Amino acid sequence: MNVFKDYYNNKVQLSFLDHPFSKKPKHVWVICRYKDKWLLTDHKERGIEFPGGKVEPGESADQAAVREVMEETGATIQKLYYIGQYKVDGRHDTVVKNVYFAEINALQPQSTYYETKGPVLLKKIPANVKRKNNFSFIMKDAVLESCMLRIKKSYV
Ligand code: GTP
Repeated sequence: MNVFKDYYNNKVQLSFLDHPFSKKPKHVWVICRYKDKWLLTDHKERGIEFPGGKVEPGESADQAAVREVMEETGATIQKLYYIGQYKVDGRHDTVVKNVYFAEINALQPQSTYYETKGPVLLKKIPANVKRKNNFSFIMKDAVLESCMLRIKKSYV
C-alpha cells in the first residue's frame, strides 16, 4: 500500500491489489495509449488529464471506463486492463477510484466531448506536470507516477 498526500493535501491510499477498497467503486480513471502516444482529455475546468469520471447507476466500473473514454476523447478501447485502486479522503467525502490501462484502437471526432474540450495526444507526460497550470490536479500526485511506472513495465 502506497500512502501520500494529493495536490490539495488530502490523504490518498493507492494499491495494486484486486479492488482492496471497494468491489463497486464509484469512480474510474483510464490511462490511455493510442499508437505511440498517451491519450488524454482537456477538462474545461481542471485542465489536461487522463479521462475518467463517475460510475452511473446500473453500470459496472469497467463499463464506465469504456463510456468515459468515448465521451471525453471519442476513442474506442481495444483492451482494458485493471491496474489498481485508490482512495482519497476528501474534505467532505471519500472517493474510491479504479485505475485502468486502455489500449485504444480508434479515435473518432465527436460533436460533443461533454465537460471536456476533447482529446489531447502527448508523446510524453511532462516531467514538471506538477507545476503546469494547464494540467489537472488529478495528474499532480503519486497516483500518476506509480501507475505509469507499472504500465511501462508491463504493457508499453
Ligand atoms: P461533482 O459531483 O461532479 O461536482 O464532483 P465533485 O467535485 O463533488 O467531485 P467528486 O465527487 O468527483 O470528488 C470529490 C473530491 O474528491 C474532489 O473534490 C477531490 O478533492 C477528490 N478527488 C476526486 N477524484 C480525485 C482524484 O482522481 N485524485 C485526487 N487526488 N482527488 C480526487
